Amino acid sequence: MTRKLLVLGFGGHGRSVADVALDCGYEEIAFLDDATGDPSAKILGPFSSLGEFATEWPEAIAAVGNNTLRLRLFDEIGRHGLKQVSIIHPSVQISRSAEIGNGVFVGRAAVIGTDAKIGDATIVNTRVSIDHDCKIGLANHIAPGATLSGEVTTGERVWLGTGCSVRQRVRIGADAVIGVGAAVVGNLPGAQTYVGVPARALGK
Ligand SMILES: CC(C)(COP(=O)(O)OP(=O)(O)OC[C@H]1O[C@@H](n2cnc3c(N)ncnc32)[C@H](O)[C@@H]1OP(=O)(O)O)[C@@H](O)C(=O)NCCC(=O)NCCS
Repeated sequence: MTRKLLVLGFGGHGRSVADVALDCGYEEIAFLDDATGDPSAKILGPFSSLGEFATEWPEAIAAVGNNTLRLRLFDEIGRHGLKQVSIIHPSVQISRSAEIGNGVFVGRAAVIGTDAKIGDATIVNTRVSIDHDCKIGLANHIAPGATLSGEVTTGERVWLGTGCSVRQRVRIGADAVIGVGAAVVGNLPGAQTYVGVPARALGK
């Protein structure tokens, strides 16, 4: 039987997920998106039409970069009874003791260490390194090349920018945004944007 995947999102992230899904053995991919997008692409309809495709496309993944929207689409997939799949590139190195949630994307060359836990609907992007005992919350977006030392904990919907680094045992609160290249060396309460080395709240 042909392995088919429905990808919710036709932006850069959605197309990256589709690309990796092909490397994972999926043979047919279609998209839902509210943007009309590229007419040559296989966009079946807007996000709201998900229920119409549940029978023909039983496996799906929410694949937009925005954490709040991705979490909403993840919930919709569950509500319509489609199977939430995680797409994990074959090149990644994941410890056998790590736990990966549902609807997770893990991009090329990522590394996930011993006893790490990755929450549902999270993006672990290209070349991210997450070390031992990290606990990554629901619907995080860990951008390319971010490096997390051991025992880092993040709340829901945290965004860790490209190439940032996080010191061991640090806790980052829900809805925090960490800028590109930041170094997080202490706990951050969240719901704010933090930049720089060491990372400080933007505007302070
Ligand atoms: C931190 C971030 C969210 C701020 O975006 P923003 O709110 O639009 O802020 P602006 O670009 O208007 O910048 C505001 C100020 O912060 C500074 N700034 C922005 N990002 C910064 C960063 N990563 N490190 C240091 N300073 C930064 C700007 O230089 C500017 O300073 P100024 O007021 O002195 O000119 C954004 O720059 C960022 O790093 N996003 C992460 C992107 C990412 O990881 N993408 C991955 C996609 S897969």
